[in-house]
Amino acid sequence: MLVVEDIHVNYGPSQVLHGVTLEVNPGEVVAVMGRNGVGKSTLMRSIIGLTPARAGRIAFKGADVTKLPAHKIARLGIGYMPQGRRVFPSLTVREHMQVTAHARPGSPWTFERMLELFPNLGERLEQSGSKLSGGEQTMLAAGRALVANPDLLLMDEPTEGLSPLMVRELGKLVGVLKDTGTPVLLVEQQLAFVLKYADRVYILSKGQVVHHCKPSELADDHDIKARYLGV
Ligand SMILES: Nc1ncnc2c1ncn2[C@@H]1O[C@H](COP(=O)(O)OP(=O)(O)OP(=O)(O)O)[C@@H](O)[C@H]1O
Ligand SMILES: [Mg+2]
Repeated sequence: MLVVEDIHVNYGPSQVLHGVTLEVNPGEVVAVMGRNGVGKSTLMRSIIGLTPARAGRIAFKGADVTKLPAHKIARLGIGYMPQGRRVFPSLTVREHMQVTAHARPGSPWTFERMLELFPNLGERLEQSGSKLSGGEQTMLAAGRALVANPDLLLMDEPTEGLSPLMVRELGKLVGVLKDTGTPVLLVEQQLAFVLKYADRVYILSKGQVVHHCKPSELADDHDIKARYLGV
């Protein structure tokens, strides 16, 4: 589904990713963990084409997307929930959905189905992004990504700053994605969330994958947790 092969990414002269390799298979929820500043968001942005890799290769559904611009990659079916949600303050909830909505015959996510999952958004359709709470903004960022009917969803720290109640709501979403067979690449710092929803985990440190395992193995690996996650 998604294959990232030995990618190297720079911001100007400073190199942030030093040969990252990972893959996401159909139907999988794959987590990327690691301390602050190790390059997790940069990895996500490289996949979606916002910070293109200068070396290495990224393939999606068998097509080489390494050098494609972001809008073309999105159109191929990669959805993206950026860190910090990036909701537009001046657009209403409805307008956010209209910007990204893309339903093909047989695609699972309609506007109505998304509102069933996030009824709070239905009550705020005409409200502007700036009037929403942090939790509602997260739901909006998720809903906006869903109505595009992505074949793969990238989520960059979706639980950051959320109340435990909203974290559970978000968990429900990941569960639904899993049930519908939509794979997810999830950057996440909350170990409990990863243990509950991920099928596999990659751990990044200083721009490299330093460990790869099943969540259950991570739960018992106190050395790895202490060294790379600060748990
Ligand atoms: N636009 C940019 N220009 C220059 N350097 C950047 C830029 N964005 C990020 N960096 C640097 O790249 C490194 C990796 O940043 P990145 O945001 O990918 O880390 P992260 O793992 O997502 O961190 P966090 O857990 O805090 O979200 C950091 O040292 C950061 O300062
Ligand atoms: Mg980040």
